[in-house]
Amino acid sequence: MRKKLVAGNWKMHGSLQANAALLERLKAGMPGLQCEVAVCAPFPYLAQLQALLASTQVRWGAQSVSEHVSGAYTGEVSAAMLCEFGCRYVLVGHSERRSLFGESDAVVAAKFVAAREVGLVPILCLGETLAEREAGATAAVVSRQLDAVIDRAGVAALASAVVAYEPVWAIGTGVTASPAQAQEVHAAIRKRVADLDAGLAEGLRILYGGSVKPQNAAELFAQDDIDGGLIGGAALVADDFLAICQAAG
Ligand code: 13P
Repeated sequence: MRKKLVAGNWKMHGSLQANAALLERLKAGMPGLQCEVAVCAPFPYLAQLQALLASTQVRWGAQSVSEHVSGAYTGEVSAAMLCEFGCRYVLVGHSERRSLFGESDAVVAAKFVAAREVGLVPILCLGETLAEREAGATAAVVSRQLDAVIDRAGVAALASAVVAYEPVWAIGTGVTASPAQAQEVHAAIRKRVADLDAGLAEGLRILYGGSVKPQNAAELFAQDDIDGGLIGGAALVADDFLAICQAAG
């Protein structure tokens, strides 16, 4: 039985004051939740998360990481630095990183490796654009993105990682993949991993992301291969995020 994970991706939102208020509400809502809960914040707020969440069940992480260990990479943040701020998770390959910041499959794979090397749990984001879906290329795109990581890191590396399927056309648009659409891709991801290592695939958590709201979360999370969610906009509203966590159990 895979324990569900609901992770908030705050993207480039927040302030010290707003974060403190949001985290207070989250902490108060934690008792009774069965699922694991995490928040992924902008880098400058990781110290605040460490201070406010260290003695709670809420885990935290970053939204990206350098593929390099250290050196002359102005503006970058290494995986070891994220560890110093108590991060458990780091998003790699979010579609906004891929499309707006030019991260290729190879760069995403290198970031995945860098995260794992220091014990961070990468949340590997995969997903097709609307044009790719309409061209019938969803399975091919998601497989290509996944294979880039498996080829570089080896399938065994997925044992200490999480996958998130986030169709680009559903991110921030209010258009969610239907539970059946999401389930179909999640099952295909699990099958691809199972072809290499069935036991590992069985334990792999695959999150769905893209316009998850309190109204649609339960139906999505009820699908066999959906093991929680990666939440954008709704993660900034305490009541909504907690309602989504409750839908996960
Ligand atoms: P929304 O929930 O705002 O659609 O964002 C999803 C996302 O990109 C999470 O990483």
